[in-house]
Amino acid sequence: MTHISYKEEQAPLFKSMKTPWDDLFITRMPSSNDPNLQGWDGADLYLLDAVAERGYAPAETVRVLIVNDTYGAISTALRHCQVDVVTDSFRGREGLKTNFEKNLADHQPHFYDLGKVHPDKGWDLILIKIPKSHDLLDWQLSRLQSIAGSAVVIGSGLTKHVHKKTIKIFERYLGKTPTSLAKYRSRLLLPGSDKIPSELQSNVWPKFWEYHGLAVGNYPGVFSGEKLDQGTRFLMEQWQQGKAKYTHSSGGTVIDLGCGNAVLSAYYMKNQYVPIPMADKGTDNKHVDGAKENLIAIDDSWQAICSAKKTYSSNGVDAHLIHGDGLKSLPADLAAVILCNPPFHEGHGVSYELAAEMFSHALRVLEPGGKLWVVGNRHLRYHIVLKRLFSRVQQIGNHPKFVIFQCWKR
Ligand SMILES: C[S@@+](CC[C@H](N)C(=O)[O-])C[C@H]1O[C@@H](n2cnc3c(N)ncnc32)[C@H](O)[C@@H]1O
Repeated sequence: MTHISYKEEQAPLFKSMKTPWDDLFITRMPSSNDPNLQGWDGADLYLLDAVAERGYAPAETVRVLIVNDTYGAISTALRHCQVDVVTDSFRGREGLKTNFEKNLADHQPHFYDLGKVHPDKGWDLILIKIPKSHDLLDWQLSRLQSIAGSAVVIGSGLTKHVHKKTIKIFERYLGKTPTSLAKYRSRLLLPGSDKIPSELQSNVWPKFWEYHGLAVGNYPGVFSGEKLDQGTRFLMEQWQQGKAKYTHSSGGTVIDLGCGNAVLSAYYMKNQYVPIPMADKGTDNKHVDGAKENLIAIDDSWQAICSAKKTYSSNGVDAHLIHGDGLKSLPADLAAVILCNPPFHEGHGVSYELAAEMFSHALRVLEPGGKLWVVGNRHLRYHIVLKRLFSRVQQIGNHPKFVIFQCWKR
């Protein structure tokens, strides 16, 4: 990868998708001109074919739960049913809402939180797109097992994402699970041909690991949920060597952008941040929506937000948490410091644009003189886009795999 670039936000681009019932216009988030990037895949098409083959038509009487619908293509195809949707990603939700509107649905689906206790809602169908994380699939199926009732459950994934372990997880919760022949480079998982095992629950979540006296909470699917990421560790090691002590006369709002389990900001607030005494703060602190905290943590993933909440509460750190897309919901000139270990995966794929977009957001949201900390893999060459955006960019530390940048806004 030699170039990463960020295009200012544009109107969504829709591509035509054929379903067994009608043709749809579907966008992804963000939308793209790239002919290889679209808002659905073969596993979505296969699922919809399977629904039609079982004689279901999209009608108001059909109740369906759709789990991990990337940009809402499956839900949109079934928009005339009573649709409940489970999706971890904030961007995924926004994509779904846009696709519903574009295809003239007269209502929006109900977003469903599997982390809460729910009774069996009497679904006819439960459709599950295989997520990247086995832990997340395990947790989702453990939650679904007790609320699936007599629903027909169908799983679907691109063949390369359906592993022996995937089938094992299905069988643990839903009984014997044959797989279909491959079609559209995808496979279906078809549980229910056997007795359902007695109820199991994954009660092991959140899992905690420790770093420098911090208890870090993790729900399934969160980044570095098993152990600390090497890049994140490298950044905190720089701080330990005295490279970040920070005081700020305005009270200093810190933002953890793409917070994951929030280890970075919990560590920063405990060890690096020097709070300004209340008496010196004045009354015009720049905060968001009445939030009193000096720290704002944002992530696209709901599992990350839940994990961050655990980390902060376990370590006595106050934070304002936002399930959102980058810094879109925040005003300009707000933050003194932004911490960012950018994502370079989007679902099962790789995305460089996300990082470039985050840097551009950071430039807008930093106050003059404010600083962005970035850690990333050396081969991603973030310095190209950072130097284009920021007036001063300094690389620190020496690591064969990772680089760290401090970037100042003029
Ligand atoms: C490489 S991880 C870093 C997590 C954590 N800061 C750490 O260092 O362990 C990147 C994080 O960015 C989040 N993310 C991805 N896209 C995002 C977006 N558009 N807005 C906010 N967060 C996003 C991911 O869910 C993930 O938690």
